Amino acid sequence: MSMPAELLICVNRRFGGPKPSCGGRGSPAIADAFERALAERGLDVKVMRSPGQNTCERGPSVRLLPGPVLYLGVQLDEVPTIVDRIAEALDRARAKAEAAK
Ligand code: FES
Repeated sequence: MSMPAELLICVNRRFGGPKPSCGGRGSPAIADAFERALAERGLDVKVMRSPGQNTCERGPSVRLLPGPVLYLGVQLDEVPTIVDRIAEALDRARAKAEAAK
C-alpha cells in the first residue's frame, strides 16, 4: 500500500517585524488554487495548510510528500504547471509500483 500524496502549503503569517512570511505573500489563495486544480484533474493529493517550513525568506513554500519535493517562491500563476509536474510524478510512482509487483 502506498502512502497518499500530500501537498504542504505554508500559510504562516507574521504581523510586524522584518522577516517575511508565506501567508503575507499570498499563500492562502495559492492553497485554494491548488485544491481546485488538483480536484479538477482528479488527482488524489491532500492539500494541507501547514505552519512555517523554515524557508520564510524564499516562500511561499510548497512541499510535496512523498518526495519530498520543495517548491519555493510559488506564485498563483505557477499552480497549473506545478500540478502538471505533480501528475507526472504520481504517474511515475504508480508505474514504478506496478513494475515492482
Ligand atoms: S512563513 Fe512559510 S516557511 Fe516560514
